[in-house]
Amino acid sequence: MKIRAAITAVGGYLPDYVLNNEELEKMVDTTSAWITERTGIQERRILKNGLGTSFMGAQAAQEVLAKRGIGADEIDLVICATVTGDYKFPATANLIADAIGAVNSWSFDVNAACSGFIYALTTGSKFIETGAHKKVLVVGADKMSSMIDYGDRNTCIIFGDGAGAVLLEPTTEEAGIMDALLQSDGSGCKHLFQAAGGARKEASVRTVRNLEHYVYQEGKAVFKFAVTNMAEVSYQIMQRNGLSSDDVKFLVPHQANKRIIDACAQRMGLPEEKVMLNIQKYGNTTSGTIPLCLWEYQSQLQKGDNLVLAAFGGGFTWGAVYVKWAL
Ligand code: UT7
Repeated sequence: MKIRAAITAVGGYLPDYVLNNEELEKMVDTTSAWITERTGIQERRILKNGLGTSFMGAQAAQEVLAKRGIGADEIDLVICATVTGDYKFPATANLIADAIGAVNSWSFDVNAACSGFIYALTTGSKFIETGAHKKVLVVGADKMSSMIDYGDRNTCIIFGDGAGAVLLEPTTEEAGIMDALLQSDGSGCKHLFQAAGGARKEASVRTVRNLEHYVYQEGKAVFKFAVTNMAEVSYQIMQRNGLSSDDVKFLVPHQANKRIIDACAQRMGLPEEKVMLNIQKYGNTTSGTIPLCLWEYQSQLQKGDNLVLAAFGGGFTWGAVYVKWAL
């Protein structure tokens, strides 16, 4: 009998501080109307008080454990998708596992930028499907404010901080992670990356002065790739699983730009009410967007519902995952 990985609990965490468009108007040359019209974002959350990404990930993970009613010592593996780890090393997943007391687990990070959560979810599902593990915690967490230049109107209007987490467990029912279609193209690096602080260009006084530790994004170029590839891969996963638009309960899209989400839904033939959306409140939390959507919309989901999770991000990375809701 085939074993699949089912999502059995969802958690989320958002920092209290709200950075709204009006406050951004005072920081850079922009208007709230422009931001809302071009991106759909009205406000985003910012993590303060010297806390790191692992703090948010651990909060989301704790909620997962509480909802599922299990102890952290039952977790076999913790995977954290992030591009804003607390440290360059060790992995943020190590810190989350320690913070929640997952003493019997091993843990590692996945770096796939905005596609991080669907990469991590797919990776985690394989450890369940092979029978290697019984409980895998998949976290998507990013403190984007730690690498955003709040003087750069091209990037500071988009990003926010947040985390979500899910628990994967085995099921023999026709449910769980059903299929995944993931892709990457490293030639896209030049359009969206952090120039300094890595092995190619280590941190120095000069790189700090040149603002090379902040996110560099050519918005238009990224938009063009995102809008076609995210829509195409979502359409393909429907096709190869024989799903019509009527069969899909929700598109769960990465929240980067409302216009990219709309194009994706249109390609899939889905009306607005079948699209999970919270970009207006949280902006782009990178690895956090998809699990935070599941977290917020969970009460609208029923066992057997077909979901298509889709993302596009730095790398470039992109992909879609077909999930049949198992709860
Ligand atoms: O999640 C990871 C992947 N990232 C993405 O998917 C992001 C994809 N890109 C985008 O979402 C959009 O490209 C942005 C939101 C970043 C920018 O929107 P856009 O519609 O592509 O704007 P643009 O860069 O083409 O700029 C249009 C105009 C320019 O002015 P001119 O040259 O036409 O006079 C910009 O200077 O808008 C100007 N502009 C702004 N104006 C007010 C750019 N940013 C702003 C701003 N406020 N914040």
